[in-house]
Amino acid sequence: MADQFDVVVIGAGPAGYIAAIRAAQLGFKVACVEKWRNPKGELALGGTCLNVGCIPSKALLASSESYDEAKHHLGDHGIEIKEVGLDIGKMLARKDGIVSKMTKGIEFLFRKNKITWLKGHGRFTGKQGEQYLLEISGEGEPQAVSAAKVIIATGSKARHLPGVAVDQTLIADNEGALSFETVPKRLGVIGAGVIGLELGSVWRRLGAEVTVLEALPGFLAACDESVSKEAWKLFTKQGLDIQLGVKIGAITPGKTGVKIAYDDAQGAAHTLQVDRLIVSIGRIPNTDNLNLEAIGLGIDARGFIEVDDHCATKAPGVYAIGDVVRGPMLAHKGEDEGVMVAEILAGQKPHIDYNCIPWVIYTSPEIAWVGATEQQLKASGREYRAGQFPFAANGRALGMNSPEGFVKVLADAKTDEVLGVHIVCSAASDLIAEAAVAMEFKASSEDIARICHPHPSLSEVMREAALAVDKRALNM
Ligand code: FAD
Ligand code: NAI
Repeated sequence: MADQFDVVVIGAGPAGYIAAIRAAQLGFKVACVEKWRNPKGELALGGTCLNVGCIPSKALLASSESYDEAKHHLGDHGIEIKEVGLDIGKMLARKDGIVSKMTKGIEFLFRKNKITWLKGHGRFTGKQGEQYLLEISGEGEPQAVSAAKVIIATGSKARHLPGVAVDQTLIADNEGALSFETVPKRLGVIGAGVIGLELGSVWRRLGAEVTVLEALPGFLAACDESVSKEAWKLFTKQGLDIQLGVKIGAITPGKTGVKIAYDDAQGAAHTLQVDRLIVSIGRIPNTDNLNLEAIGLGIDARGFIEVDDHCATKAPGVYAIGDVVRGPMLAHKGEDEGVMVAEILAGQKPHIDYNCIPWVIYTSPEIAWVGATEQQLKASGREYRAGQFPFAANGRALGMNSPEGFVKVLADAKTDEVLGVHIVCSAASDLIAEAAVAMEFKASSEDIARICHPHPSLSEVMREAALAVDKRALNM
């Protein structure tokens, strides 16, 4: 006899665990299936984000930034440090400690919300009446469970290059790249996307010579052009060697390093010899052995589970959220979908405006944006006005020794509604939240310009950029 729940969530990454918590808050009897094992072999909640994604990468970004600061920039403040040492083991242990604290935190939240953690791999086995049947394969005998509502939140996994084995030591994806036990002297990165830039920056700051090989001819094509240009200038000045428009050839691991053959944008052949290689060429949705066919579902040509605007699949009562469905592969997008679906199950009418989901790249300085880029507005024929203001003219930024970057506000030429905001700044990830709030409330650039912002603060640059839309910035 199968254990019956109101809602079963498959996957406890940010999409799944948040869906489970919200469903439990709304009074459902909830189970969440999760099979993740950490390097110690322990079962862990939190998915990619907490175990090998957002959280550990940001821990290493902060550590490597502090090292870089101590080594190269504290002198600007008149602080002299004679020798700066690096204990990579301690740095990795700090990161692992944060991961462990966060994943254990979700176990606590599950207990608090009376969510049953079904430990193991979940797969559909069929449907009986209204009940979807699932089998959980863990350590003991497979367990049968059933629920009328199922939320699939099985996430994504790193895309690998065909024929190139990832051993997580010489050739690594995000998992290995967050745990190198020594700083490679020469590091190769394939893919100048978010992971390539973030993790490339981590190891560069810790002393590696980093070469990034990118297939596309343009840099950060999804960003506003002014942002990509500024980022290119800053990152290459910092020492990242970024080669665009390359075609990767043979990748040959040796005893102590990896040889990468590639053609550059002009077609000339090169060989790059590195001590370690990170492959960061995107992620693919994870539907391995879910047995979707048993409930009449499949995947699309790109591997995603098809859903409508409210994350409903074609199977009544079955929803899919997070990286396994269309839309940006971002933790906060998955979390919002988790909340939305749980509330739909409870008869509420929530809605997500996907245009208001912010993006952040945690480089130094950070890059963040929400809404449309200038290229997109031009292509759609929408008339707009742009206002831009640099952090170099902001007293707080100068005090913080962070004068790089700007805020750019794009607003409709007639109604003044904010259509997009683009930020390059050390604190862009926090500043962008104001822009997301403004866009959710359909604010005009004048609304932002009329709101009192604290002085001195980086947020004043947001206000000045909004004023600049109407050509009336006060401090320029
Ligand atoms: P996942 O987090 O992938 O979780 C899915 C879970 O489902 C996994 O735990 C898996 O074990 C489990 N699972 C899968 N199939 C089954 C099954 N059949 N049975 C049981 N369990 C199953 N996003 C941001 O927004 N900000 C960032 O700063 C950021 N940094 C990142 C850094 C890196 C290095 C990487 C790789 C990603 C980063 N991301 C970031 C992306 C973010 O991690 C993902 O968008 C997010 O984790 C997706 O959440 P999810 O719940 O959909 O899937
Ligand atoms: P990505 O999609 O950001 O970038 C992959 C890059 O690799 C692209 O520029 C692509 O053109 C390039 N590429 C693809 N195939 C190639 C090839 N054969 N040779 C050379 N270059 C090639 O993917 P990435 O960096 O792996 O990250 C995956 C996803 O994880 C991101 O899209 C994002 O959704 C999420 N993420 C989010 C973060 C954040 O929010 N700060 C941080 C890290 C990851």
